[in-house]
Order: sequence, then structure tokens, then C-alpha cells
Amino acid sequence: DAPNLQQIHDDLVALALEAGKMILAADPSSIPIDSKMNSSDLVTATDRAVEHLVSSRLSTLYPSYLFVGEESFVPGTTRITAAPTFIVDPIDGTLNFIHGFPAACVSLALCINRHPAVGVVYNPTTSVLFSAYHNGGAWMQRGPASPKIRLSPGRPLTGLRNALVAVEWGSQRAGENFEVRARVFRELAHEGGGMVHGMRSLGSAAMNVCAVAAGQVDLYWEGGCWAWDVAAGWCVLEEAGGRMVSGNPGGWGVEVDGRVYLAVRGAEGGEGQEEIVKEFWGVV
Ligand code: IPD
Repeated sequence: DAPNLQQIHDDLVALALEAGKMILAADPSSIPIDSKMNSSDLVTATDRAVEHLVSSRLSTLYPSYLFVGEESFVPGTTRITAAPTFIVDPIDGTLNFIHGFPAACVSLALCINRHPAVGVVYNPTTSVLFSAYHNGGAWMQRGPASPKIRLSPGRPLTGLRNALVAVEWGSQRAGENFEVRARVFRELAHEGGGMVHGMRSLGSAAMNVCAVAAGQVDLYWEGGCWAWDVAAGWCVLEEAGGRMVSGNPGGWGVEVDGRVYLAVRGAEGGEGQEEIVKEFWGVV
């Protein structure tokens, strides 16, 4: 049977709200924290508990679908195949969560053929929920009592010099990857380069992608994102008329390893989308 994307969307929204309650109930000042790659790549007991909740609910609801989660991922063995696969970041923006900066979310996606088909991104601190499913539309809701806004392509894009751009340092703080990021930040800011209006880092890849989908920022670039960082937001972005483009050569789909992602917001009739992407790669 073909997956019922609307039903899966509704189930993921309910699950995200439940996970959100768990995140809000946690006290980040007293929960155990471990570091992964380095001291800026952290995981808390709440990340693990939320992933456990989500994976057990999903295995009951959709037992034949595969599951890839940030905290249970095993480097070198987990691969994303064409089969329906839930891709989950229990807390995207773990550093924000630890510091109490109000931009941490649960990010739930279903990918089919390595492409996001359903996406839900929920920030329990602000109650903002983004969701979408393939060919169904994308929505934003600012809390349970507020109306569900349908996201749609916005005003034309008028070039990098009028753009607000989201960028992140991520957790790779040495070597070639660090140098690339430093160059991107510099070239976008510099008068002799892109000189964008400004740069923002929400500290959550999923929330950056959703900010592009909502037209709050025009572009989001990051080198080194993982599937669970972007998959759910990517669905919201596409359904809102935006596009995800890659700096990596080769097959393009959700990848488990760190990739370069550029998200560009929607525009009426696609006006300016192609041009701003070209301009961006030209500058960085
Ligand atoms: C991280 C956040 C951060 C981004 C990193 C991600 P996590 O995810 O999305 O904004 O810069 O690349 O790994 O560790 O908080 O789930």
C-alpha cells in the first residue's frame, strides 16, 4: 500500500507535541551531558529519552518502516536506503537546550526514496510548529490556540545584497571544514563580497530551514549537516515553494553523513531563486 502521508503527518504532529512536553519537563541545568566529537558537540539524557519515546511509538505505529535517529546512529553502519525511513533528531539545537536559549526543537521526518515526504519541526519553548507533507502543503502554527498559517512563496528575491542569510558554525571547529565556514562568514559579510543585510544563527539547522520556508530569512547555508538536521525542514521548505540545493557533487538525496546544504526560500513564480543561488556560490 502507498503510504498515507496525511495520516503520517498527523501522527508525527501528535508525537512531536508529546516529545515537546518531555523536553519542557527536563531541567537542563541538572541533566547528565556527554560530549561526542568535541566539547561543542553534546548530547543530554533528554536527547536520548526523547529519541527512545519517538522510536518506540513509531515502531508500534509503522512497524515496517525503518528508523534512523541521531542518538542511535552507528557511524559506518547506518545507511539511508530508498525504503520508507523515519529520520529523527530528538532535540535539534541541543546546545540551545542546555543553555536555555529558546530555539531547540524536535525534528521528525519520513523519507521515501531518500527524499523527505513528511516533516514536522516543533519548538516546545515557543510552541511554534512547522509541518508539511509531499504535495499536501506546509504550515506554521504559533501555539495551539493560534491559526494554522499556510506557507506560500513570498516576494521576489532581489539578490544577495538584500538578503538575510542564516549560517552556522556547527560543531567541526578545526581543519578544512572550519576554514570553509570561516571563509563563508567573511565573504558574505564583506563589502567586497556578498555584503548581505545580515547573518543569523538560530543554533538549530531544522529551525534555520523552517525560517527559510517561512520567508523569515532568504537563505541558509551550512557545511556538515546530517540527515536528521535537515530532513524534516526540507519537506516544509519544498512545500512552501523553497528549494534545497547541494554543494556536493553526485547523487542528491537525504544523506546520513555531513553534507553542504543551501536552502533558498520560495518566491512568486520562482523569481530570483536561480539567480541568488548562482550569486551565492559565486561569492563563497
Ligand atoms: C546541530 C544544530 C546546529 C548545527 C549543527 C547540528 P544538534 O544539531 O542543528 O545548529 O549547526 O550542524 O549538528 O546536535 O543540536 O542536534
